[in-house]
Amino acid sequence: MKKIIVITGILFIASLVMLSFRAEPVTPANYPALPRDSVGSVKAFMSVYKVLMSSRCMNCHPSGESPLQGDDNHIHTMNVKRGVDGKGLYAARCSNCHQAENTAGLHMPPGNPKWGLPPANMRMVFQGRTPRQLALQLLDPKQNGGRTKAQLIDHMAKDDLVGWAWHPGDGRTLPPMSRPAFAAQVRLWIAKGAYAPSIKTK
Ligand code: HEC
Ligand code: HEC
Repeated sequence: MKKIIVITGILFIASLVMLSFRAEPVTPANYPALPRDSVGSVKAFMSVYKVLMSSRCMNCHPSGESPLQGDDNHIHTMNVKRGVDGKGLYAARCSNCHQAENTAGLHMPPGNPKWGLPPANMRMVFQGRTPRQLALQLLDPKQNGGRTKAQLIDHMAKDDLVGWAWHPGDGRTLPPMSRPAFAAQVRLWIAKGAYAPSIKTK
């Protein structure tokens, strides 16, 4: 009897180990792949792109060294700069003004414990990128913070700083679709083959 329990236990653990090996980064068990479909994949990416390029996301993914503000994406006032770690330069650290939570009131600083830009050595620029450029950049671990495709999905679907965009504080508009709808499109893009739009797709 004891033997049977031990053997069952070993088999169970072995199958867990096998499952985790089988879960290659592209399609872990929780993000099953769908049949490859370049048209469907690109279509899903184009709605992901609309969110990425919306102000709540783009203001922290600028092409320059300053964050942006507002729906017109103007350069952050008060000469605020990225700095090496993305959290500001010299005395103008983001956390001097940006708290762990949004500060109530119009034109008050929004907040999150991780508030900051991507660091100087991995700038993760969205501003000005074409759909094709941004898709390829997001998929490149050398430019996306070393993320696998599954980690990229998780980041968009669950990361708390990304989530700030859907409760951005008084007077700020929301991204063009809900977060669950956005996460579903990210999953579809990748599950159908993670295709990058062609150069002509605008
Ligand atoms: C307050 C600034 C801020 C806002 C707002 C913000 N991000 Fe980011 N984002 C960052 C920082 C900082 C990093 C790098 C930290 C990391 O790698 O975890 C990052 C990294 C990322 C990454 C992973 C790297 C890459 O480019 O592949 C993605 C994807 C991303 N953000 C998507 C979004 C989306 C989508 C939104 C809006 C819904 C958003 N971000 C809003 C600051 C921000
Ligand atoms: C001296 C205070 C101060 C510092 C330092 C500061 N900010 Fe801000 N920031 C503000 C205020 C105030 C607002 C709100 C402006 C408004 O709504 O009109 C703001 C707004 C923003 C927004 C716009 C959010 C949106 O989507 O409209 C971003 C992005 C931002 N800050 C990023 C940063 C980053 C990143 C740093 C550090 C590198 C930083 N800020 C440093 C005061 C500051």
